[in-house]
Amino acid sequence: MSILVTGGAGYIGSHTVVELLAAGYEVVIVDNFSNSSPEVLKRLKTITGQEPTFYEGSILDKDFMTKVFKENQIECVIHFAAFKAVGESVEKPLMYYHNNITGTIALLEVMAEAGVKNIVFSSSATVYGMNNISPLTEDLPTSATNPYGYTKVMMEQILNDVAFADSQWSVTNLRYFNPIGAHESGLIGEAPNGIPNNLMPYITQVAVGKLKELSVFGDDYDTADGTGVRDYIHVVDLAKGHVLAVKDNLETKGAKVYNLGTGTGYSVLDLVKAFEAENGVTIPYVIKPRRAGDIATCYADPSKAKKILGWQAGKNVHDMVRDSWKWQSQNPNGYQE
Ligand code: UD1
Repeated sequence: MSILVTGGAGYIGSHTVVELLAAGYEVVIVDNFSNSSPEVLKRLKTITGQEPTFYEGSILDKDFMTKVFKENQIECVIHFAAFKAVGESVEKPLMYYHNNITGTIALLEVMAEAGVKNIVFSSSATVYGMNNISPLTEDLPTSATNPYGYTKVMMEQILNDVAFADSQWSVTNLRYFNPIGAHESGLIGEAPNGIPNNLMPYITQVAVGKLKELSVFGDDYDTADGTGVRDYIHVVDLAKGHVLAVKDNLETKGAKVYNLGTGTGYSVLDLVKAFEAENGVTIPYVIKPRRAGDIATCYADPSKAKKILGWQAGKNVHDMVRDSWKWQSQNPNGYQE
């Protein structure tokens, strides 16, 4: 029996594949390399000594996906494959709704036809919207401020409805806070296309000399130093959370939802200072106006995942900034030569 990982060549997907293999699961990866590279597969082999079954293609292609389910004994799907850039989603909403929502529906249809009714879904703390107060608990109302966020809200809803309609389904929505860091080998990590939108890849690209300086979006928030506070979580901890979520998913039925965060918030300047101190590099920065759609503070109440999955983050901010830098400094151009 295998775990099918859609988007398994991506940032969180590839780290999750490493942890699944380490836990003894057989893995099948589906990826269309829309935001990833075939090089990831070689690196996964170097790290794990194993070669998961790989299919290049899109989850939107139902004939292709039906073949994947026919040729493998899949017991559970971890569904990462989706577009994830907030700004791009505002410019190209239909592309986002088609890829993320229609793609998920197509995947669920193929799964139902194949009789595979176990799915762990890659959701996001973005579903808590602008108005909830941290620490965020899973029972709070969900909302969004941009098409990307709406796709996460809607995909959670679709999965919940599917589980409600058919009691054979087991659905797990995992709400990630802010994943950073990389595998300790420095062989896999986050490799955004173009100029990064997220804070940590921006910092590492400044550190490696590809970008001149960091823009800090706002220093007048109601936080200790005025800059935005987020719950940064090491991607390897996040990946381990998926392994435990799969186990729980296979042992239960119905819809479940868990936050995967540390429960601790760091400001933009906290993260910059931690990065500089740990790695002995300087990150020049300028204060800029607030970025539209940002909130002051966002961090998890991770107690539900601890209680039910037995999961908690083990790595601290030093590990995160060290491993982010190891990845970027060893791979200044990501997976490109
Ligand atoms: C962002 C997305 C969120 C998505 C998540 C995925 C927005 C508004 N939100 O979360 O929907 O789920 O990424 O990882 O894009 N910052 C700077 N300078 C930068 C970049 C960021 O100061 O160049 C600040 C931001 O204002 C924020 C913090 O750093 O306070 C973290 O930003 P980011 O890494 O983009 O994550 P989120 O905005 O939390």
